[in-house]
Amino acid sequence: MKLLKILFLFLAIQVSAQQGGMWIPSLLQGMNENDMQALGSKLSAKDIYDVNHSSLKDAIGHFNGGCTSEVISKKGLLLTNHHCGFGQIQSHSSLEHDYLKDGFWAENYEDELPNNGLYVEFIVRIEDVTTQVLEGVTDTMTAKEKQAKTDGNSNRIQSAVTKEAWQDTKIKSFFKGNQYFLFVTERFNDIRLVGAPPTSIGKFGSDTDNWVWPRHTGDFSLFRIYADKKNRPAAYSKDNVPYKPKHFLPVSLDGISEGDFTLVFGFPGTTQEYLPAAAIKEITEDLNPSNIAIREAALKVIDAQMKASDEIRIQYASKQARIANAWKKWIGENLGIKKSNAIAKRKEAEAEFTKALKKKNLESQYGHLLPELEKQYEAFAPIDIKRNNFVEIFVRTNELMGMMFRLSQMENAAINGDDAFNVARESTKNRIKSVLKDFNVDVDQGVFEAIMPFYTDNVDPSIYKHTAFTNLESANAILDSAPGDFIEKLNADPAYAYAKPFIIEFYTKIEPEFQEKNTAINALETEYMKALMEVVPNERYYPDANSTLRVTYGQVRGYAPRDAVYYEPVSYLDGVMEKYIPGDYEFDVPQKLQDLYTSKDFGRYADANGKLPVCFLGTNHTTGGNSGSPAIDAHGNLIGLNFDRVWEGTMSDMNYDPEICRNIMVDVRYVLFVIDKYAGATRLIKEMKLVHPKK
Ligand code: ARG
Ligand code: GLU
Repeated sequence: MKLLKILFLFLAIQVSAQQGGMWIPSLLQGMNENDMQALGSKLSAKDIYDVNHSSLKDAIGHFNGGCTSEVISKKGLLLTNHHCGFGQIQSHSSLEHDYLKDGFWAENYEDELPNNGLYVEFIVRIEDVTTQVLEGVTDTMTAKEKQAKTDGNSNRIQSAVTKEAWQDTKIKSFFKGNQYFLFVTERFNDIRLVGAPPTSIGKFGSDTDNWVWPRHTGDFSLFRIYADKKNRPAAYSKDNVPYKPKHFLPVSLDGISEGDFTLVFGFPGTTQEYLPAAAIKEITEDLNPSNIAIREAALKVIDAQMKASDEIRIQYASKQARIANAWKKWIGENLGIKKSNAIAKRKEAEAEFTKALKKKNLESQYGHLLPELEKQYEAFAPIDIKRNNFVEIFVRTNELMGMMFRLSQMENAAINGDDAFNVARESTKNRIKSVLKDFNVDVDQGVFEAIMPFYTDNVDPSIYKHTAFTNLESANAILDSAPGDFIEKLNADPAYAYAKPFIIEFYTKIEPEFQEKNTAINALETEYMKALMEVVPNERYYPDANSTLRVTYGQVRGYAPRDAVYYEPVSYLDGVMEKYIPGDYEFDVPQKLQDLYTSKDFGRYADANGKLPVCFLGTNHTTGGNSGSPAIDAHGNLIGLNFDRVWEGTMSDMNYDPEICRNIMVDVRYVLFVIDKYAGATRLIKEMKLVHPKK
């Protein structure tokens, strides 16, 4: 047994030499295709991405711009994570209909719940437009001139694209502005909630288990795409019909074993794999600690209030999850960077780069880049932190200050005439309405008192007593005034009077200095990326994540994070019961699930060993945005749903290490089991295509 494990580890290291990377789906032919097949895939590059025929990519939708989802039936049934649909589930919940606590299952199409603003976007095709975008850009241009040129070129390219009237286009920069791709997209706006397990399944383990293996969360929810009668995108209408997709993923009932091929297909948000050591140092030593401290202070207040009141629990569930998620990730990221000696190792790699420059006689061209970057990051840190703290407090965490920030934009719009003002009024009113829908003055004031001291000595909680903006009616009384009147009343509001000097400082001092320094760093990094690819040739350069569609592939694998510890790659329902704490807000288990466990009523969803699988690990290189991404088997069938990474691997956005970085997926058999056995929503099982690829 021990020998076997050593052999496995040895194999994992051997094989992982070809893993890591988030690849552009239209460029898989050759190296990636070969790698995938070596890992066990039976798929061709064209099975994954094809312009002329339907392919896997047609089933993959960008979910509301931040997560991934996939179509799993010919009637537009859409699978994503519970935490991706959390905002929607929360917004349909109330004390009477507590879908967070009890789950939600539509019994028929009519019961499926529309979601204002929610959209899903598919990729129609991808084209390399680097030459056209960079046309006329020269080395002697300033960063600003270059930007103006590439912007102009991009607009021209997009207006000349051949596409259907209902499709959109965008151009994105890759490799820090060394390559550009055009995307033709199709966006659906009528997306309805179909099903969600209770939070005690969908978010089982909550913050304690978040970012951690072993994991036992059924992190999934179901939606449906609706289209007009011609099967085209349309705004919500009760006359819309279920969307007929170009492709949907069949669902495998055969499960996974260690070593099986896995492909994760989705929309990873941001990675920074090619940063100089100086930047990693700035992020982990300055930026992360200050963000962690602010969020920790805010969470202390929110968590306590949520535990004390069901109403507040429902109101703040989604906001708390968002704040806590990044907070914990930054902590893990810092630990991982430290433990892996990432900064020292990056410095070593930089020394190699410098040596290679000398050897290739490229010192005069590129030799200044690293020393210059180091200098600039040092000068950048103070303003970067200051700006980050502002955004953290005035945009992301305190809602009263967030409203003031919005209102200042509306005040500015008033200067630009009635049209601009009316547009700003519309969007500010909507925003404030949605903030106040789930707002509790005591919670927000508590957060204010806890986090404001990170920014200023001038902390004045009395503004909460006298402001008009903690109440929709009094807020609207100001918002509905004529521009001149609005400005006067707004400036007389104590919360606005308090916030305004900070906001002015932000716009006049902080933001300009930040932008200036940031632009200079970006320009250097564009050069550095180019130099790196030229001087240290390596066919495995992949572009950083930028919220575009990517493929990452690997295998089902455990990992050994530290001495004497080896983590198995599969978790089971037994583990849910091991963690069960009756009545606990994180580890309670619904009675029905306990009963199914006791009677071992797993149906056809059990593993060969008779146990019910819950989650599994893979060597796929993922990041935020890959949530809800399908895990696909060697034949193109759905085997799982990506939702997280392991604790020791959260550093992978800056320092991917194939030995310990693992992504966490829900086993699709657990998803099916919850839908079928737990919820009895068999109508949904019936519309899927269940397959047996291994038999
Ligand atoms: N860490 C995962 C992600 O980055 C899951 C977050 C949702 N789960 C939670 N307990 N908040 O989104
Ligand atoms: N949970 C993350 C998300 O929402 C994905 C996991 C990760 O960051 O790797 O996108």
